[in-house]
Amino acid sequence: MIVGIDHLGVAVESLETALRFWQGALGMTPEHTEAVGEQGVGTVLLPANGVRIELLEPTGPDTPVGKFLARRGPGLHHVCLLVDDLDAALRTLTASGLRLIDEVPRPGVEGSRIAFLHPAAGAGVLVELKETVRR
Ligand code: CO
Repeated sequence: MIVGIDHLGVAVESLETALRFWQGALGMTPEHTEAVGEQGVGTVLLPANGVRIELLEPTGPDTPVGKFLARRGPGLHHVCLLVDDLDAALRTLTASGLRLIDEVPRPGVEGSRIAFLHPAAGAGVLVELKETVRR
């Protein structure tokens, strides 16, 4: 079902401050910047040999990432795994009794289709599934 790792999501208080480390100190180059209104986050993606770091700055305290920051502080937020067929993956996982946050796919960055599994299902790790783009 899983064909790769797309990115690691990192919750930050400020993209600008976080970029001083990821870009300024480590020399990683942002390839994509996008505000995802539906999820209440601004994102910056920094590629590293096929896997990206996704920085997530919440637009306010009442967003999922805003609540995460208040509860846990900045840090690793989720792991995004690639699947070829997101609908089929969600059907399979639902049938196996796994808890999902998203029963149906929702829009992610770069026009992708994504769905989050429940962290309880992932042994404490919030897992995002993203559909590979068919060309
Ligand atoms: Co993500």
